[in-house]
Amino acid sequence: MTEVELTSGDFTEENEPFSLFGAWLKDATASEINDPNAVAVATVDENGLPNVRMVLLKDYDERGFVFYTNFESQKGRELLGQQKAAMVFHWKSLRRQVRLRGEVEVVTDQEADEYYATRPRGSRIGAWASKQSRPLEGRFALEKSVAEYTARYALGDIPRPPHWSGFRIKPVSIEFWHDRPFRLHDRVEFRRETPEGDWMKVRMYP
Ligand SMILES: Cc1cc2nc3c(=O)[nH]c(=O)nc-3n(C[C@H](O)[C@H](O)[C@H](O)COP(=O)(O)O)c2cc1C
Repeated sequence: MTEVELTSGDFTEENEPFSLFGAWLKDATASEINDPNAVAVATVDENGLPNVRMVLLKDYDERGFVFYTNFESQKGRELLGQQKAAMVFHWKSLRRQVRLRGEVEVVTDQEADEYYATRPRGSRIGAWASKQSRPLEGRFALEKSVAEYTARYALGDIPRPPHWSGFRIKPVSIEFWHDRPFRLHDRVEFRRETPEGDWMKVRMYP
């Protein structure tokens, strides 16, 4: 059982998913041992074969859920190609899950620049140095690349690489799940036809 005082009460009475998500993320921030914003992102390749990996959620609001990555990575290519994704959060300490799905859009250059500017210098160099998801002959090649970019950007600002930015998943479905005894969990899905549409709430059998 968690020892954290939860900010969210009976979530099945909520009628709007974003404020409910905010309350659950706040609870997770107080109770998880690390990375409460860690989330699995599923994509699909051009043959329909799914792929999933963890990322860190960096922003969310009524428009959607944002994370940042290398656009030439496997996920970057799949998202640019198929423009659809799903996410699942699992907060073990709270026994809660949130999953969502929808089409993706690329964040604006301004949003990406603003977030990039908040990253530590080493992470900004890393965004240049890593050819994410492509074969690496050895650790030394990565360290050499880091050293080269560190020298190149020794003075002044480190610009955001053109291949590094954010994706926003614009959900048409968000489902909240909370563990209850005997596997009789609470499960509520918010659905809408389009990312601009009104939410419909559906309670589901667990
Ligand atoms: C907790 C956690 C958080 C991560 N956050 C990110 C992230 O925000 N962006 C990212 O590109 N990769 C992140 N990664 C690495 C990805 O899981 C993945 O290994 C990498 O992005 C390459 O994925 P791809 O080949 O499917 O593109 C994270 C990994 C973990 C375990």
